[in-house]
Order: sequence, then C-alpha cells, then structure tokens
Amino acid sequence: MAIDTGIIDGREVAQAVRGEVRQRLEALRARTGVTAGLATILVGEDPASKVYVGNKHKACHDVGMESFDVTLPAGATQTEVEAKVAETAADERIHGMILQLPLPKGLDGVAAMNTIPAAKDADGLTLASQGRLATNLPGPRPATPWGVIRLLEHYDVPMSGRHAVIVGRSNIVGKPLVHLFLEQNCTVTICHSRTADLEAECRRGDIVIGAVGVPKLIGRAHVSEGAVVVDVGINRTDAGLVGDCDFEGLQGIARLITPVPGGVGPMTIAMLLTNTVALAEAALAG
Ligand SMILES: NC(=O)c1ccc[n+]([C@@H]2O[C@H](COP(=O)([O-])OP(=O)(O)OC[C@H]3O[C@@H](n4cnc5c(N)ncnc54)[C@H](OP(=O)(O)O)[C@@H]3O)[C@@H](O)[C@H]2O)c1
Repeated sequence: MAIDTGIIDGREVAQAVRGEVRQRLEALRARTGVTAGLATILVGEDPASKVYVGNKHKACHDVGMESFDVTLPAGATQTEVEAKVAETAADERIHGMILQLPLPKGLDGVAAMNTIPAAKDADGLTLASQGRLATNLPGPRPATPWGVIRLLEHYDVPMSGRHAVIVGRSNIVGKPLVHLFLEQNCTVTICHSRTADLEAECRRGDIVIGAVGVPKLIGRAHVSEGAVVVDVGINRTDAGLVGDCDFEGLQGIARLITPVPGGVGPMTIAMLLTNTVALAEAALAG
C-alpha cells in the first residue's frame, strides 16, 4: 500500500538556520562590538564559481555578517594563492574564510585549501577540521553534510540506532557524513561505484542519502517503504536541475524526501554561516 510522502523543505530550514545565525551575530556584537566576517578567495574568472561566491556574499549581507571579496587573477601561481590565503587568515576582521574550488588548471586547490588555519576554516573541509570531526573533537563541520543532519533534525527523523546508507564516498560529502551520522548514533553503510549490490544495500536504510552525481540513480528498487531519502546530488540536464534520487518515482514509497532544487542546496550556505559565527565566537571568547 502506498504511503504519503512528505517533502523536506530545505529553503524553510535554511531560513531558520539563518535566523539563528542572525541572533548569534547580534549577541556577539552586543558583547564585543565586533561583527563577524567571512572572506571568500576566488582565483580566476570561472562563471559558476563567481555565482557561488556572489551567493555567499548575499547570504552574509542577509544575516548581517561582514564579507570580504578577495580575488586573484587566473594566472596566479600556487605560491601566490597560498600567500593570499595566509594574508587573509592574518586579518583580524576575518573570522572564517573559504577558498572557492576548483582552482584554475595547474593549481592544487586541496593543498592550498589545507593552508587555511583550522580556526578560520568556514567550510570545515581542511585536513585539520576533517580530523577533528573523525575523532569527535569540536570544530567547524563540512557544510553540506552538516546541512543534511540539520534537515533530518529539523524534521525529527530518528537517527539513534537507525541505519543510514550513504551512496558516494567523496571527501566533501560522503566520508564526512559517515562521522556526522556516527555522532548521531546511527549505524552507517557507505556505498560507491564498486558496491556489489547497490539496491540491496540501500534497501537496508532507514535513511538513504544520494551523493553521487548520477541523475535519478536511486529509485524504487533502492528504497524500502517508509525510509527517509535525502538527495545531495545536483545534476544539470536538458530537463533542468535533477538530483541523484528519483523524486517522482519515490512518491508513495519514501516517508520523507528532499526535492532538487530546494532541499540540501540551500543548507550549504546556511551551515557555512553557522561555522563562521561559531569561529568568531571562539576567537572572541573570554
Ligand atoms: N551544496 C550542495 O548541495 C552540494 C555540495 C557538494 C556536492 N553536491 C552534489 O552532490 C553530488 C556528489 O558530489 P561529490 O562531490 O560528493 O561527487 P564525487 O566526488 O564525484 O563522488 C561521487 C561518488 O559517487 C560514487 N558513484 C559514482 N557512480 C556511482 C554508481 N553508479 N553507483 C554508486 N556509486 C557511484 C563514486 O564512487 P567511487 O568513489 O567508487 O568513484 C563517488 O564516491 C554531485 O551531484 C554534486 O553536484 C551538492
């Protein structure tokens, strides 16, 4: 018998998270006189990266956070990029920073990102922050996977003792999600392109996460009735933006599902802002 499938509204949850950030910023300003600041570093002119960076500045403006737009030309060297990271990190007005990836060809974006000090890592993606997450130490959390957890919390999805199945093992989504689900006392399975029987693994999930980059990979054969489905995928197709999960096909099977767009997407910037205000609070504590 088909069940009613509810929609997880990421835009609404992201607004709620932004509201929390706004309040924390005001409290911090009242206590210290300081407005927390986020810096973006963009190397080159990639149009998609420019849009992403622009959205982050708009979000800062929306919540009353200071934002700093740091740019380098496409021809910048690795040394110049890392020097700019160091210079930005040394600026006391900046409490969180991100290096917009990917960098132009020939540059090592991950190496440059890893020179961001943990105390200013707004994306939570540096080796130091990922290590802290993996060993249960406090610190900034990787923004997109943390957004997944916030969505589930907001909708009171039970996690303790439940089975979360993640499809995708990237360093920015799948792997950090393992640790975030473990923090919630979930039992976790992580699948990837070599998983022998993806459908069977996914059907074991009370929560199924698509973080793959393959349009509508996860469909009716992968999801048990009543499971909660969170779709991280953003795939540009002729039919527009499509997730990794078959949103229409999973109606009547999933208990709750995120749409694409309007699901996980808006949460990433909201969690980036959350990391930044937390870094500012820590820097100005005492
Ligand atoms: N703000 C956001 O909402 C946000 C943020 C980040 C990413 N995304 C989106 O999330 C998706 C994943 O991003 P990502 O950076 O994590 O991707 P990625 O680095 O390309 O990783 C994809 C993962 O999916 C696995 N995979 C590929 N084909 C598969 C298949 N047929 N069956 C099972 N597993 C398969 C790969 O397995 P192997 O490891 O074996 O190759 C890999 O682990 C993309 O659509 C991306 O645009 C959204």
